[in-house]
Amino acid sequence: MKRTAILLLGLGLGLSAALPAWASASEVIVYSARKEELIRPALDAFQKATGIKVTLLSAKAGDLARRIEMEKSDPKGDVFLGTTAGIAELLRRKGLLAPYFSAAAQEVPEEFRAPDGGWVALTGRVRVLIYNRTLAAERDLPRSYFDLTDPKWKGKVAVASMGERTTVSWLAALMALRGEEATRRYVKGLRDNGLKVLNNNTEVRKAVTRGEYAIGITNHYYYLLQLQEDPHGPVGILYPDQGPDGIGTPVFSITAGIIKGAKHPDAARGLVDFLLGAQGNRLLVQGEFEIPLIAGIPVPGEDKGVKGLGQFKKARVTQVQLADLEPRVEKLFGPFLIP
Ligand SMILES: [Fe+2]
Repeated sequence: MKRTAILLLGLGLGLSAALPAWASASEVIVYSARKEELIRPALDAFQKATGIKVTLLSAKAGDLARRIEMEKSDPKGDVFLGTTAGIAELLRRKGLLAPYFSAAAQEVPEEFRAPDGGWVALTGRVRVLIYNRTLAAERDLPRSYFDLTDPKWKGKVAVASMGERTTVSWLAALMALRGEEATRRYVKGLRDNGLKVLNNNTEVRKAVTRGEYAIGITNHYYYLLQLQEDPHGPVGILYPDQGPDGIGTPVFSITAGIIKGAKHPDAARGLVDFLLGAQGNRLLVQGEFEIPLIAGIPVPGEDKGVKGLGQFKKARVTQVQLADLEPRVEKLFGPFLIP
């Protein structure tokens, strides 16, 4: 790794001035909403490459945000990692994130960055449909999210509750593209058609594979997590709304922001650089089964039908647009989309 090389060179020649600023930082505290086991390999690699100890606090994004706000006058965390951009954007608007323009962030498409550098997306998750191959033949599959209100799918569709941020972002995407009224009608149509709301996306992937539901509305990496657990299970993946009139399939992101007033700002910036760099980003993408947002990183599951950015029709919404609509989505649909 380049930075390790610089570090070693610096030490070897006694050129302490050549050391990156974060080389002196000994710790970085990460507040992460991501599943710990999926993000660990990348954080461990950072620790190994830099000698900076990574302390990880994992919790739900909303809980971490409340904590960051409470600790405002004496921040305990350094980096916030969210499972969509929504919570990061809320924190940014409250002035709780410190802008940072990582050179590596230039590689990330603009729609996946806060314009003021408050947060940056690290990897992408695509809102797909998964299906049970024994219950639904390929030719009968829905082509659009909007097909799921058809009586043909009555009682056969499952989604995770809004306890999963990506359920909120998904409805925000529909609202951005089709408007509030159409989204309300759609959600009502789904409920009238017997939509099953499960606790989380893990339950969705398992229930679909067991054959309790034909279709699951979920994120692409749950398809890969399911195949990892059960390589011969009858689960398939499909990208909805791909036709000429389709709205496209939304992409969300794991998002990193540096907490304002962080005690270890140099280490925090070093970690963001690392997670956007080739080695760190590859580990992150592989560990989480996400898709890369920067060029040159392989797409996990490409051999199993997973598509990278540019290989499918992506919904035309920015992460900021989604974040704008999420509070409205929570208010409108929170009371209904409960398990
Ligand atoms: Fe998830």
